[in-house]
Amino acid sequence: MMMILGGSTSKSLAMDLANVLGLEFVQAHTKRFPDGEAYVRIDRESLDKEVVLVQNTYPDGNLVELLLLLDAARGLGADKITCVIPYFGYARQDRRFNPGEALSAKVMLRHLEMEMDRLLTIDLHKPDVLEWFARAPAKDLKAAPAIGDFFRGHGIDLVLGPDKGAVGRAAEVAKIIGCESDHLEKTRLSGTEVKIAPSYVGAKGKRVLIVDDIISTGGTIIAASNELKRLGAREVFAACTHGLFTGGAVERLRGACDMVVSTNTLESEVSKISVAKVVAQEL
Ligand code: R5P
Repeated sequence: MMMILGGSTSKSLAMDLANVLGLEFVQAHTKRFPDGEAYVRIDRESLDKEVVLVQNTYPDGNLVELLLLLDAARGLGADKITCVIPYFGYARQDRRFNPGEALSAKVMLRHLEMEMDRLLTIDLHKPDVLEWFARAPAKDLKAAPAIGDFFRGHGIDLVLGPDKGAVGRAAEVAKIIGCESDHLEKTRLSGTEVKIAPSYVGAKGKRVLIVDDIISTGGTIIAASNELKRLGAREVFAACTHGLFTGGAVERLRGACDMVVSTNTLESEVSKISVAKVVAQEL
């Protein structure tokens, strides 16, 4: 049999996954020692041979927890471990943008490939990085079907990607909703500032949904929403797969958009879309 093992992150996704698949769910016990080191314990005498471990590698401490959980699971008899890493940290540093930088995505994947029998990720910034995970099967899953399902019946007229790279995701979500899609033109000015130019399809009087893979500071979505409102959009909704929401981004986004939601790859007050079915289909 197969069972779902949950770490300290993405707990609602891990539990949803067990429910969708009708599998047993085991929650690992995790804590920090007074000096900050991680401690994990799976309070069972043994595990099934096949285990699906759900745990993020972000922030850094959770990567250590993942490594410890893998060892704890092996110690209890897990023979084939599929790791679901809903938000894979460091994926955005997928090349050396400046001389002397680390190729972070490769470092993470090359180390993790030694430890697991299969890897599933969700909406990696660039799925091609999985080429660096060569020792075992790996696949990046798309959250677009879950986002599209969530927004069915919300009267969306237009789905936009905030930049050219996001147009495929926007089109996929739009297809499920049954509306048109397009993309904006984004120029990044700094870590927190972006300039947004309008889409070719008009926004006037429309209910627009902007879909991105990651919201971090919220700068991209806020600039896009302001531009769309200036162009006469009736309502602007924002959705992302991974809601990092750094430095009070949710509050700032609420000031600029009519709705902000994310999937449950990272848990927050707005992580209302479950990607459990997307993962379950692959398992
Ligand atoms: C970048 O290419 C990503 O797809 C996101 O657009 C970006 O990470 C969003 O960051 P922020 O919320 O800080 O604008």
